[in-house]
Amino acid sequence: MPLRFVLFLVGLVFLPVHADERPPAAAIASAHPLATEAGFEILKAGGNAFDAAVAVSAALAVVEPYSSGLGGGGFWLLHEAEKDRQVMIDGRERAPLAAHRDMYLDAKGEVIPRLSMDGALAAGIPGVPAALDHLAREYGCLPLAVSLAPAIRLAREGFPVTGHYRRMAAFRLAAFAESPEAARLFLQAGQPPELGHVIRQPDLAWVLERMAEEGADGFYRGEVARRLVAGVRAAGGIWTEEDLAGYRVVEREPVRGRYRGHEVISAAPPSSGGVALITMLNILAGFDLAALDEAGRVHLVVEAMRRAYRDRAEYLGDPESVAIPRERLLHPFYADGLRMSIRTDRATPSASLPGAVPPGGGDDTTHFSILDADGNAVAATLSINYPFGAVFVPPGTGVLLNDEMDDFSTKPGVPNAYGLVGAEANAIAPGKRPLSSMTPTFVRNDERLAVLGAPGGSRIITMVLLGTLEAVEGKPPLAWVSRPRIHHQYLPDVLQHEPGALDAPTRKGLEVRGHVLREQQPWGNMQAVLWERASDGRVEAASDPRVEGMAAVRVVRDE
Ligand code: GLY
Repeated sequence: MPLRFVLFLVGLVFLPVHADERPPAAAIASAHPLATEAGFEILKAGGNAFDAAVAVSAALAVVEPYSSGLGGGGFWLLHEAEKDRQVMIDGRERAPLAAHRDMYLDAKGEVIPRLSMDGALAAGIPGVPAALDHLAREYGCLPLAVSLAPAIRLAREGFPVTGHYRRMAAFRLAAFAESPEAARLFLQAGQPPELGHVIRQPDLAWVLERMAEEGADGFYRGEVARRLVAGVRAAGGIWTEEDLAGYRVVEREPVRGRYRGHEVISAAPPSSGGVALITMLNILAGFDLAALDEAGRVHLVVEAMRRAYRDRAEYLGDPESVAIPRERLLHPFYADGLRMSIRTDRATPSASLPGAVPPGGGDDTTHFSILDADGNAVAATLSINYPFGAVFVPPGTGVLLNDEMDDFSTKPGVPNAYGLVGAEANAIAPGKRPLSSMTPTFVRNDERLAVLGAPGGSRIITMVLLGTLEAVEGKPPLAWVSRPRIHHQYLPDVLQHEPGALDAPTRKGLEVRGHVLREQQPWGNMQAVLWERASDGRVEAASDPRVEGMAAVRVVRDE
């Protein structure tokens, strides 16, 4: 990891305050130093956490094109300090109105490889531009023209290519080879650009300027919309101007649960994240984890994961299309039943649980966490599904479209890009939102507020679970983001773990119980903020050491 990223990793401020007063400083953790700086620029200009969230989202759309963008979607979980109100802004993509259940199948009903991943037909109708406009109008105190300014500057002046950018571009070279406009913008002579090569995006700057002047209409109507639709249709896609003009964000009540004296507030459907997170915590609440050895602890955490992921596939989808038994799934009594099926000495074979199969989800998503000096907070997880999304840019827009359609079950029962299979609740339908795993989360009690989340496809939810367990134990954000990770998602029936996450006695204790262990490369890019409001008033932020993000804590306003 480059030294400068290590130095940026954690910011700490110790200034004494009394309980429930405002934090002594603001904090931002995001996946890219330039996005974190964009957020602070807006806080310094008098913006609040919601304005900063606009700036960070837009900057990430420019400098992290493999993980998020105007062509993508996301969930912004907001905490308004003065009202003590939390709300989720659902800016998830929608299927185009001409989409249909079998659109990625051939005449024999077989899935056509890569059709839901690469190119114009893979793209959902973007939600990010509408969400940024909504955030600015309903929650911010600055106009979009101000909070989009850092992103416009970054798009015009460019940003230097990093090692992570190069790796992501190399991974998608085959798709770039089919997509001249995307290759022109994001590669150098058809290859991953050299380190430090400057990526300039004048077309994207123009689109951001249209939004700065006209809000969401600058993207969803007029010349930008015409170019988007023309480009998509010329490449075999099915978007219409009606799809764009009809896109709306939805304000949703977050899901809520309790765990060891903390309130956990997280993403509502169409994300599966919050429901699965709270189910897992409800199951674990009935065990004394601290009294167990490491193998015993990991075993129970994995059994909770297994059960929550089974339910996720069975019950969750777009709440506008699927009846979700939300109250039941979130109720502690329901978790009591799940807990009773867990043996402490044996892994439960997933095949012995009632059948359902988990949906997938791309890895290439981004998360950021913000706390402002008034105590407002934002946890936002935004998605470009696969690295560089659909690797398709409608000419004259600079907008990289997102293959979020692959988050639907392209054919119920058939594996998606990640070898995972989806259920009926997540089948494609016109205007429907695909099921997500994104899990922006607040964990709080009278003493502290934790803001966290991560990218990572189906592994997002288990990363947030592990981070939440650390936060509740009182560990600092650096421990949440750097904790070695384990994951189980019901099917395939394997316990995935990062190299070095389990020592030899723990591995033995798990194998004796019947768990099948599989080492995976490190995963995730968690970004977290903590405000210890009742004790020393400490504000901390941390960025996952596995990638290239930046967390900082700064005093931004003169009092
Ligand atoms: N595209 C990743 C997710 O929404 O879960």
